[in-house]
Amino acid sequence: MKKIGVLTSGGDSPGMNAAVRAVVRKAIYHNIEVYGIYQGYTGLMTGQIKKLELGSVGDIIHRGGTVLYSARSEEFKTEEGQKKGIEQLRKFGIEGIVVIGGDGSYRGAEKLTQHGFPCVGVPGTIDNDIPGTDFTIGFDTALNTVIDAIDKIRDTATSHERTYIIEVMGRHAGDIALWAGLAGGAETILIPEADYKMEEVISRLERGHERGKRHSIIVVAEGVGSAVDIGKQIESSLNIETRVSILGHIQRGGSPTAFDRVLASRLGARAVELLMAGKEGRAVGIQSNKLVDFSISEALSQKHEVDLSMYQLSTELSI
Ligand code: F6P
Repeated sequence: MKKIGVLTSGGDSPGMNAAVRAVVRKAIYHNIEVYGIYQGYTGLMTGQIKKLELGSVGDIIHRGGTVLYSARSEEFKTEEGQKKGIEQLRKFGIEGIVVIGGDGSYRGAEKLTQHGFPCVGVPGTIDNDIPGTDFTIGFDTALNTVIDAIDKIRDTATSHERTYIIEVMGRHAGDIALWAGLAGGAETILIPEADYKMEEVISRLERGHERGKRHSIIVVAEGVGSAVDIGKQIESSLNIETRVSILGHIQRGGSPTAFDRVLASRLGARAVELLMAGKEGRAVGIQSNKLVDFSISEALSQKHEVDLSMYQLSTELSI
């Protein structure tokens, strides 16, 4: 392989830049030309493609977001869109691409590979919801952003003796809520993967109040439902004051943690090795701190599972 491309797609995540840097530098190290495809699959279809040099990725390892920009493309879900993309790649003489993103991005990479164009996926999403890898790039940074917010909210919750409902990202995955709730000492964690009863949430708060607890933190994954509604239900059942904090997109920004930078560097470089070895339709990941690769289709056919033993632990520790 003499020319490869790299793109970032879907929701951005801190560490994507470190992954782009690793792809570019690893490829150039092996005398392979690298092309940046801007704005994800949108830019692929319209030919927003530019050759990258060693210096193109200088000074980005510590920056959040993605220098290649990102997008969610409806058109690329169609066969016509995918063929347009392949046409552009052939025009530039690109023989394989590295796709950095989440499950939607993997679907695009799967389609391109099925049409005969080699792709390798690198898991970049704060949601940590790609089957086959213990961690995705950006999760650790997002988690630390949430912890910082919880710690600050805890201070004011204590001063005012209030119950805070903190909504974090994750439409279908509860990893951010679960890990942040456990690390932030939340009294209750609500995630889409585990059923809950509002009566239980309320009676847990009640028990806490009876033994003199003056404030509480409840962490809710956005996929569970509205934090505002949960707050209202608590206020109408108990005589306590609640406040809601929806953390939103601050969770997607910021300088990546050392963990995310190292993970991104390892995974980005491994993706290039796979393309060099003629492997296609593969995704890279990390399991028990070892780099692994598996078929993208296999990953997409599996359901991401949260570690429910951690959920049980959080319940026991916040008794
Ligand atoms: O997939 C990452 C993610 O941040 C999810 O946690 C969230 O539900 C979604 O993206 C938000 O997407 P957007 O930025 O397009 O509103």
